[in-house]
Amino acid sequence: MFVFILGREFRLSLAEIYSLFPTAVFEFASEQIALVSWVSETEVCARFAHMGGVIKVVKILEEVKDIPDFMTATKKYLEQVDRTNKVPFAVAGYGEKIDNFATGLRIKKFLKSCEDKSFRLVNKEPKNINSAVYKKEHLAESRTEMNYVKVGKNSYMGITIAYQDVDAYAARDMDKTRDMGVGMLPPKLAQIMINLAGVQSIERSAVYDPFCGLGTVLIEAAHMGYDTVYGSDLSSAMVTAANKSMGEFAHKNEIDIDGLVFEADASKIAATIPESMDTKTTSIVSEGYLGDVMGTKTVTPDKIAEQCRKLTRIYDGMFRDLRTVGFRGTIIICFPFWDNRGKDIFFEDILPIIERYGFERKELLGPDIPFRTTTHKSLLYRRPGQTVGREIYKLELLPKEKLGLKL
Ligand SMILES: C[S@@+](CC[C@H](N)C(=O)[O-])C[C@H]1O[C@@H](n2cnc3c(N)ncnc32)[C@H](O)[C@@H]1O
Repeated sequence: MFVFILGREFRLSLAEIYSLFPTAVFEFASEQIALVSWVSETEVCARFAHMGGVIKVVKILEEVKDIPDFMTATKKYLEQVDRTNKVPFAVAGYGEKIDNFATGLRIKKFLKSCEDKSFRLVNKEPKNINSAVYKKEHLAESRTEMNYVKVGKNSYMGITIAYQDVDAYAARDMDKTRDMGVGMLPPKLAQIMINLAGVQSIERSAVYDPFCGLGTVLIEAAHMGYDTVYGSDLSSAMVTAANKSMGEFAHKNEIDIDGLVFEADASKIAATIPESMDTKTTSIVSEGYLGDVMGTKTVTPDKIAEQCRKLTRIYDGMFRDLRTVGFRGTIIICFPFWDNRGKDIFFEDILPIIERYGFERKELLGPDIPFRTTTHKSLLYRRPGQTVGREIYKLELLPKEKLGLKL
């Protein structure tokens, strides 16, 4: 069993796990953690490096009765690790408040009583250490961050097997051409969205962002191993910037990206889809166009209605065209929702458009996950204090037999 420590938008994190590990059984899930069985360590390690929604993964080693029992189990584990060099270790806790520093000191004392002085406690405070300390102390190599996890009536001891590398996300973000007056998708959210399209495979082998802006989705997809990525945007300046960032990314990482970034109006997408694009195996992953930027002070219901009309024209054209070309790949896309003085207003007009052209909204959370999507079957992402949030959908064209009834 594995414990996934979830990101701030925990429903999106759960959806990402569900999408990447279709066989997984969710034994337990809270806003902070998910206890998952029926996944292998190899699978978890291979996919974790590209999971934007999971902060850390703990491999459960044994069930324990309580904290003293956890300390005994930890001592036993530490005594069998390689101690050629001094071993750093840390204590972390989930589901029940524990003082990690005090617990760590007691474990260290136990270890001393068996005349072993080769351990060094990393914790300096009661709270869990962060990823920077984890990295600096090389705990990934020693596999000695020891976790106490309480889930309902059961408690477990486990070791951390992976921790999100926050510096790597920040570095990729800073390398891109920025400051072009558009909001950028956070790289972690881009990864989550790419993962919501499913596991990369022969049947799912390319990514297309028809509102690519500065290219966040394209770069994250390339980083995740997609060697075919397409991007387009109405603005030629964006196309130039995205192309430049892609070129620099490919050069820096010494990879070949078989892709194309071009100028196109997404509302007339049928005319510009490149011939080389396989419309069965390409996933559309896009932040979409969220409308004009509005601040908390300038937002009004009238302005929101005006944005909705503008967006309706774009998306009606886009879904009509995707239906025309028979686009069969998965579509992961955001539409905006606005905070109008404490009340959220959604872009409801998108729902009849999706339906009219024969697309269906797919479930993002499995039945054994004790949280639900919105009544639209979407999931929400909003940074604290932001006026515009993103409503994320998974869409697919209905199977041919059902599609005949539409239009
Ligand atoms: C929110 S930005 C996307 C930002 C991008 N996800 C990133 O991280 O850089 C929306 C983009 O949609 C583009 N856009 C607006 N209307 C469009 C249309 N009809 N067709 C294609 N692109 C459009 C804008 O030029 C803008 O670059």
